[in-house]
Amino acid sequence: MKVYAPINIALIKYWGKASEDPVLPSTPSISLTLEDLGSETTLETSDAFKFTLNGTPLQGEALEKMRTFFRLFSSDEKVHISSVNTAPTAAGVASSASGFAAFSLLLKETYAPELAFDAWVKQTAYGSGSATRSLLGGAVMWHENGQVSNVPFHADHYQMAVVMIDTRPKKVSSRAQMKQSLTHPNFHDWQRRNRDRAEAMIQAMAADDFNAIGTLMESSTLDMHGLIALSGGGFSYLTDASMAVFNALRDARSQGLNMYGTADAGPNIKVLFETSHRDKVETFLATLGYPVVYSKIALEGARICT
Ligand code: DP6
Repeated sequence: MKVYAPINIALIKYWGKASEDPVLPSTPSISLTLEDLGSETTLETSDAFKFTLNGTPLQGEALEKMRTFFRLFSSDEKVHISSVNTAPTAAGVASSASGFAAFSLLLKETYAPELAFDAWVKQTAYGSGSATRSLLGGAVMWHENGQVSNVPFHADHYQMAVVMIDTRPKKVSSRAQMKQSLTHPNFHDWQRRNRDRAEAMIQAMAADDFNAIGTLMESSTLDMHGLIALSGGGFSYLTDASMAVFNALRDARSQGLNMYGTADAGPNIKVLFETSHRDKVETFLATLGYPVVYSKIALEGARICT
């Protein structure tokens, strides 16, 4: 069987777990599922448990993480799973979200086809919290109770561009860094502000108010990276090049070309813009000197390939 799951980019970030078992987030998050970047995953019978990522067999801790997730669905470990990312792996381009969403769909279809949607979402979160949002298309909210639902949004009015500043794998996992942030005294202020932003984002999306959407998105990302720096003794996933892109976006806005940026556990910047301005955005982003990948918003999340 073969499945595909698209990546998703959080506009309102998930950072911090209220519970690890079950996995529940400390604040709601809201993302857009992107059509043109994702993970394609297949399952075949084999003599032992094997997991190949982009052609390379996983070993050690990485393999054990996949085996632990697999065991949530089945104890028959004689399978070979093969996953290919169309986004650079582990470079903050959300490949773990699409990877676990695809793996989770594959396991549900193979071993638990009767599993209810809500239970499946909760199971997916053990792999990666952000993967839950790739199970649906469009704008998706992962709630504090662990469920996901769509947020009404004019998906065709918007697109995203990923500015690939550095596609090498990240050195510090988001899981470990997130845990560190949880113990910082400022965590609760972040939680309160991000909850408020999620509420405001639902309103902004309903009103199709691009500047409100973009401003909330930048504020969530910069607040998250601020908390990471505070709780990590100055550590940052963002580099000087990432900050230069945020500055370039601000300059573009001051000249009337509205674009907003966001970044995850890596230096790459994802840019949200209006579909009607795509030509101007392409011309502008080309001047930054990095490869750029463009994507429409996906209408469908993780799916079985025919
Ligand atoms: C910065 O989903 O990778 O991308 O649940 O521990 O696997 P775990 O974390 P993960 O965290 C993603 C955090 C983020 C923001 C986001 O996607 O909301």
